[in-house]
Amino acid sequence: MSKSASHSKDKNWWRQATVYQIYPRSFADSNGDGIGDLKGVTSRIPYLQKLNLDAVWLSPFYPSALADGGYDVADYRDVDPRLGTLADFDELLAELHKVGIRIFVDIVPNHSSNLHVWFKEAIDAKPGSAARNRYIFRDGKGVNGELPPTDWVSHFAPSAWTHESAMGGKHNQWYMHWFAPEQPDFNWNNREVEDEFLTTLKFWADRGVDGFRIDVAHALKKDLSEPLRSLPVFEDLEQRGNKGKGVLADRNELFQIYKEWRKLFNQYDPPRVAVAEANVHPDRVPLYASAKTLGQSFDFRFIDTPFEASSYKENVQDALKVAEKNKSSCTWALSNHDQIRHATKMGLNPAVNRKAWMLSNGTSHPLDMASGTQNALAATLFILALPGSTYVYQGEELGLHEVTDIPENQIQDPQYLRNNKIEKGRDGCRVPLPWKKTGSSFGFGTGGAHLPQPQWFADYSVEAQESDAQSSLGTYRQALALRKKLVTEEKIKWHKTKDVSVLHFSRPNGWHCITNFRAISYPMPKGKVLISSHPLQDGKIPAGTTVWFKK
Ligand code: NOJ
Ligand code: CA
Repeated sequence: MSKSASHSKDKNWWRQATVYQIYPRSFADSNGDGIGDLKGVTSRIPYLQKLNLDAVWLSPFYPSALADGGYDVADYRDVDPRLGTLADFDELLAELHKVGIRIFVDIVPNHSSNLHVWFKEAIDAKPGSAARNRYIFRDGKGVNGELPPTDWVSHFAPSAWTHESAMGGKHNQWYMHWFAPEQPDFNWNNREVEDEFLTTLKFWADRGVDGFRIDVAHALKKDLSEPLRSLPVFEDLEQRGNKGKGVLADRNELFQIYKEWRKLFNQYDPPRVAVAEANVHPDRVPLYASAKTLGQSFDFRFIDTPFEASSYKENVQDALKVAEKNKSSCTWALSNHDQIRHATKMGLNPAVNRKAWMLSNGTSHPLDMASGTQNALAATLFILALPGSTYVYQGEELGLHEVTDIPENQIQDPQYLRNNKIEKGRDGCRVPLPWKKTGSSFGFGTGGAHLPQPQWFADYSVEAQESDAQSSLGTYRQALALRKKLVTEEKIKWHKTKDVSVLHFSRPNGWHCITNFRAISYPMPKGKVLISSHPLQDGKIPAGTTVWFKK
C-alpha cells in the first residue's frame, strides 16, 4: 500500500505535522519567465520528499495583479496563467499525494482584488445596489462627501477608504480596504458572500485539497452599524482583548461562519483541516482553533521572540496551555513570507532596531550571518521537538538570510510602496530560492528571477549543501526524518539545568531535547545523541546548539 493510501484515513494527521510553506512565485520556475510556477513545484517534489514533510501549504497562486504578492485575488477558483493551469494544479496535487505529502491552499476571504468580477460590477453599479452590497461602500463626510467616512487606517495605506473615482467609479462613494486600495474588503454581513466562499472551499476540497490556511481570519466580520464607529489608533485595529466586540476584527459573529465551514470540512473523509491566521489576544485563540471552528490557529509568538531561554520557555508553556484548553495542538513557526528571515534576526544584535536596519539596506549594523544560521538551526531543532505542528517557510532549511539590499526601483511590496516608505517591506524573504551554486538565477529557472538574488546565495544553495550532512539542509533533513519516528504523545516534561540559559525537556518516549542558548558551553547529559544542530565540543554543548538524545 502506498504511503498516501495508508495515511489517508488518519483524522489526526495534522496535530503534529510538519507543513512546508511554498511561496509559488519564488520557489522554482519551469519555463524561464523569471516567475516560479506550479510545474516548478511539481519538478521539485523529490526535494520536498527528502525533507520528510507531511504537507505543503501554497501561498496564493490564483489570478492576481500582484498588488499584494497574490493576496489580491481576482478569481478564487482558478490559477494565474503565469503560474499554470488548473490541470497543473491537479497534477501537482496528485504527485504530492503519491509520495504521501498533503496540500494546503491559502484562502483570502477578507478582501478580493479590485479586478475581481464582483468588484468590477460594484464599481459600475449604483449606490445602494446589490452589487455594491457585496463590499463596503459608504458616502463620505464633508459638505460634498469629499472626506473618508471614518478615520480607519489601513495596513498599507494611510486610510482604509478610497474614493471610488480612483477605480473608475462615477458616483461619489468610498469603499473600505484594510490592506491596499487594490484589496477591497468584502461585506460579510451579506449572505451571498458567505455562500460564495462555501462554494470556493468546496471547489478545492472536491479537487482533493487536504487543508486551508485562512488569511486574516479575524477580520471578516466588522461592526458596520451606523454611524460607523471611530477607530483612530492603528494598534487598536488589532482589537487585542476586545472581548469580541471590536470594530474591525475578532468579533464574536465570526465563529458562526467558521462553524459552517467546519460542517463542510467534516463532510470529507478524512475531514479537511484549516489553520487560522488570526492576530488576536491569546485568550481568544481557542475560539478560532476549536474543533467546532477552524481547528488550528497560528502561534506567531516565536517569530518575534529573541533567541533566549526564559522567553522560549514562557512561550511554550503558554501555548501548551492554550492548546489544552481547546483540545487543539500547537502551531509553531519561526518564519513566513511576511517576516524577516529568522536566521537574520538571530544574527543581529537584539538591540538593533530592525525596521531602521532594513531601511538602511542592512548597512547600519553588522550582521553575523554564520551565528545567525547557527542559532536559527538550534531554534528549529528546539521547536521541532515540541508537540504540535511546525510550519517551515521555504528557504529556512537552507539557513537562508533576508536580502536587505533590494534596490528601491525593484521593490514590489505595498508595505513599502503604499505606506510612505516607512518600512522596507517583505520582498527580502521572497527572493527566489538558490538551487545551484552558479548559473541563471542560481538554478531557480533559466530566465532570471523576479527579485534580485545576491552573490552570497551561491553558498546557501541546495547544491552547496546537498552532500553535507552537517549543513543546514542536511540537519533539517535528518531532524525531520527523526521527528517522524520519534513523535509521541502530546506532552512535555521540563528538566532542571544548572544554567538559566539552557533549556531541557523530554517527551514521554524518552526523547530529550536540550538547547544551550548562550552559556559558554554546557555538559552533555548522559544518553545517546540523535542529532545535534552544531557539533559538540569535547563532549560539551556549545552556545547556540540544540541536541536531541534518548535515555
Ligand atoms: C496576511 C498575509 O500573510 C500577507 O502576506 C497579506 O499581505 C495580508 N494578509 C493581506 O492579505
Ligand atoms: Ca514561470
